[in-house]
Amino acid sequence: MAAQQACWGLLSTARINERLIPAIRASERSELLAVASRSKAKAQAYAQQWDIPQTYGTYEQMLADPAINVVYLSLPNHLHAEWAIKCTEAGKHVLCEKPIALTTAEVARMAQAAEKNGVIIQEAAMMRFHPQTQYLRELVANGSIGEVRLIRGVFTFTLENPGDIRLDVNMGGGSLWDLGSYCVSFARTVLQAEPIEVSAYHVGGDTGVDLSFTAQMQFSTGTLVHFFSSFQSFAHIEADLLGAQGRVYADIPWANHIGASANVWVTRSGAIEETSTFSDSMESHTTDTKIYENINAYQSEVDSMVESVLDGGEPVISLADSWRNVATIVALHESARTGKPVCPLKLTDELTRRC
Ligand SMILES: NC(=O)c1ccc[n+]([C@@H]2O[C@H](COP(=O)([O-])OP(=O)(O)OC[C@H]3O[C@@H](n4cnc5c(N)ncnc54)[C@H](OP(=O)(O)O)[C@@H]3O)[C@@H](O)[C@H]2O)c1
Repeated sequence: MAAQQACWGLLSTARINERLIPAIRASERSELLAVASRSKAKAQAYAQQWDIPQTYGTYEQMLADPAINVVYLSLPNHLHAEWAIKCTEAGKHVLCEKPIALTTAEVARMAQAAEKNGVIIQEAAMMRFHPQTQYLRELVANGSIGEVRLIRGVFTFTLENPGDIRLDVNMGGGSLWDLGSYCVSFARTVLQAEPIEVSAYHVGGDTGVDLSFTAQMQFSTGTLVHFFSSFQSFAHIEADLLGAQGRVYADIPWANHIGASANVWVTRSGAIEETSTFSDSMESHTTDTKIYENINAYQSEVDSMVESVLDGGEPVISLADSWRNVATIVALHESARTGKPVCPLKLTDELTRRC
């Protein structure tokens, strides 16, 4: 019989869990049953803090618990594929933190394991569940600003914790995997298209990860995309789209500051009132503002996952979609390494292992 309830286990005591725990609790057909850590004492202290009934001192033990049918996987990036596959072998659905994996070969193995075991693995790229992303996607699809010529994005902050997993090259650290992955996903989903060629530069740090990354991507739609991600800059987030007949500015395109509002301004060209030599300053413009207040995209992410698990709803982010995001990121790394443009969809598995 199909499950009636999503019974969640947290795989790790990661900081990001703090966003998911309230969302799981607020989800009507969900229950938070357990947390697993590499240390039983850590799991117990965490469970006490967050009022979680069951604790496990190894990840394997939680996967052996038949009461759990959905795992929220919040391990460091290099462990996503390995543990997502183990979850599927234990018959659990998986909501796996972004980036879903570090190579396209890993994503392919995850897809095979999910299919074989009849479960879902979905990437927890929160932004994709935010209504603002859906709005921008529709706006572009409707041609509201005409053909999109350019998308620009910035996602930066100052990372001051020397032990952070984001600074460990063996854990899939670096600003591109951590922050730029959102910019890639944003452009792909808003344009509903794929990059055909990318080129990039990075600024490396002592630990071997990129501390700053700048990327150019040319999409099949003819749109050019530029973004900048960084761990060594003033905290800043923004995206804008420039179309043939208008522009869009989003002040919080890929983060969810709970309690804060996100704004989208859409400016379109109107009728030309009088002609001048270059028809420039004479154009009239209209600007619409859309404000997203008190949105919790983590809640939408959990609710959507529950719908897929219990009702068979199509996941918002398919593994094929995640595969293409990973392919693009790997191509960007390869371009920064070689100084040459790279075509993401022509990558081989061998290359993706090397990056
Ligand atoms: N969607 C979002 O908005 C968002 C935001 C932040 C982060 N993330 C993603 O969430 C994941 C976790 O990020 P985070 O910053 O929350 O991580 P974190 O606080 O550093 O926690 C990672 C957890 O992984 C476990 N772990 C297992 N092996 C480890 C190892 N060798 N070294 C360190 N920890 C290890 C640890 O749990 P135990 O000790 O309990 O086993 C640790 O608490 C990343 O994939 C990140 O990209 C997503």
